[in-house]
Amino acid sequence: MLPVEIKPGIFWIGVNDRITQLFEGLWDISKEGVSYNSYLIRDEKTAVIDLNKVIMTGEYMDKLQSLTGLEKLDYVIINHMEPDHTGVLRTLLKIAPKVQLIGTAKTVGMLQDFYGITENLRAVADGETLTLGKHTLRFFVTPFLHWPETMMTYEESEQMLFSCDAFGSYGVLNGTIFDDAGVPLDWYEEQALRYYVNIIAIFSKPVNNALAKLASLPVRIIAPSHGLIWHNNPGRMIELYKKWASLTTEPADPAVTLLYTSMYGNTEAMMEAVAQGIVDAGVPLTIYNVSQTPISYILPSLYTRQGVMVGAPTYEGGLFPDMKTALEMAEGKHIYNRKTAIFGSHAWLGGGEKEFLSLVEVLKWESLGSLIFKGAPGYEELVQGRAFGLEFARKIKA
Ligand code: FEO
Repeated sequence: MLPVEIKPGIFWIGVNDRITQLFEGLWDISKEGVSYNSYLIRDEKTAVIDLNKVIMTGEYMDKLQSLTGLEKLDYVIINHMEPDHTGVLRTLLKIAPKVQLIGTAKTVGMLQDFYGITENLRAVADGETLTLGKHTLRFFVTPFLHWPETMMTYEESEQMLFSCDAFGSYGVLNGTIFDDAGVPLDWYEEQALRYYVNIIAIFSKPVNNALAKLASLPVRIIAPSHGLIWHNNPGRMIELYKKWASLTTEPADPAVTLLYTSMYGNTEAMMEAVAQGIVDAGVPLTIYNVSQTPISYILPSLYTRQGVMVGAPTYEGGLFPDMKTALEMAEGKHIYNRKTAIFGSHAWLGGGEKEFLSLVEVLKWESLGSLIFKGAPGYEELVQGRAFGLEFARKIKA
């Protein structure tokens, strides 16, 4: 996409990444892609706010150069040092060696660690300002959104918040950078939730701290460094962040995530019956095969829903490995205090249930029951499975 002038003198100069399969080398974005949003403010002084991952460097530099002489750049504002926002820095410094790099005190140290940069660095304090001419920038230190060095930059005349990872989403920008009518907002919100749970959620307490710090700030535009620019309804994203951050301490939605995996279709057959029972109770249900679905898509459901029904066979005397991995990832993301139950097949001695119970104890998930059977489930066992799902869902509803 060509640069977009958001407000007089303030430009989006980001890049769509339709190539990367795994964000952070971990989270699946093979279908959705992601954008690295970068912004240029052209005034008496010029400043770039956040940069780009070290892909499509040529396209990025061309875009920047179409608006200003690279060697004339005065400032690069580094809201967040993670390389998806700074990867092109070394290349840029070869062209503009005098440009001043601005970030928090922790950013200064990280720039040395990651890129060996030790010159033209300026650490700013919380609330400090930088005047470019007509535009004045104010910096807000917001640690752990997403790394400890992170800050946000606020442009005062347009009341525009450059929030970096916060309020960002997966998903490339398709022809527009704005949250206007006609853009599939539900899809971007879903991608923002997935980004939140994958990347930000374990820092929900710092999110609350940042929201409190910024509460009295008038914000007309939120310009994150991934995904849409929220200028039509910036308040919507702030409200969503309040809700998502609250889910670490407040009850999740009365709905069920059903995670299952199956070796020969026996646990899957029981899954179909258990799912019927859950829906019989009128409780929303989403089903994931953990062996076939990247964990990135599963975690948001676990994060937002109170019930987790688990269907997994015993494997070598323990829980089926893919299910174990999924539960360990939930623990890694601090998805605590859910209600759960397990069903599954075993061939001789069992052992899956025992390992499941020890894993959910760590997660502080309350176990509401087990339905373990040998080999293939018979008709009566499937009827029992439906009742098992119904009973579980009723407790979630209650
Ligand atoms: Fe978009 Fe934490 O990097």
